[in-house]
Amino acid sequence: MSLQTKDLTGIKELSTGDIGLILETASGFKDILGRDIKKVPALRGKTTVNMFYEPSTRTRTSFELAAKRLSTDVISISVSTSSVVKGETLEDTARNVEALGADFIVIRHSCSGTADFLARHMRASVINAGDGTNEHPTQALLDLFTIQEKKGQIKGLTVAIVGDILHSRVAKSNIYGLLKLGARVRLIGPPTLVPASLKALGVEVYSAMHDGLRDADIIMMLRIQTERQGKGFFPSTVEYFRNWGLTAARLEAARKDVLVMHPGPMNRGVEIASDVADGPRSVILEQVTNGLAVRMAVLYLLSGTKQ
Ligand code: CP
Repeated sequence: MSLQTKDLTGIKELSTGDIGLILETASGFKDILGRDIKKVPALRGKTTVNMFYEPSTRTRTSFELAAKRLSTDVISISVSTSSVVKGETLEDTARNVEALGADFIVIRHSCSGTADFLARHMRASVINAGDGTNEHPTQALLDLFTIQEKKGQIKGLTVAIVGDILHSRVAKSNIYGLLKLGARVRLIGPPTLVPASLKALGVEVYSAMHDGLRDADIIMMLRIQTERQGKGFFPSTVEYFRNWGLTAARLEAARKDVLVMHPGPMNRGVEIASDVADGPRSVILEQVTNGLAVRMAVLYLLSGTKQ
């Protein structure tokens, strides 16, 4: 079993068949992760290198754990103490990592297109762990896995994605994935962060929470990406929460069995109220748990794709 692609750089280019194969394989790995002995020898002898040029808690930790659970050797380069600070380019860094025998390079970078660039220059499989405002494919895959696990299927569901869509790579990857699998996607937020032009992707666009959340099956909240914004997208975080924060009262507009999701890290009291984040409809920590099985599936399925 393998994917039709050497690399995972985005959901936009991923076939529906490959998405289905990843979700099915992740389900098998989730079963294994529930056992006493969680480690399998599937990728013994392979090497995984994490290159994170931006901060991360969930993605980096779960890629490290996924690689270890599959018995690969795994190294995480700390960019701030690497030769990057002496001026070494991304491509030279990656080529040196490959010369040391990397089979998988997991890359997070602030520039959109970085993973795609590396994939075209490396023999190793390149996995995008988030590139600028472009894509974060494994986050979307774990979100799709969580929705499918909880709801049985994705086709026909109404998914509301709320917040800073403009700067969100998580939103982009989810929009591509959800539409490929037959969901109806609504985007909600201030018009400065959810421009009407996004309708061209095949989604509905709302500025009022009550309208966009009505009868939603899934609500996906997003963090305001202050590190990627200039000023002036909304007046203040207090006003943002007043208009677009997810509160228990606003949740009433959605379906009773709605799932509340968030990729993390959360800004409590900015995009989501604490009682909702920790409440009975929240699957936020289950998303994190599922990320491990999904990343194991991605590494495993890419291991069979080398020429
Ligand atoms: N969801 C996500 O990418 O979280 P991290 O930035 O902590 O990896």
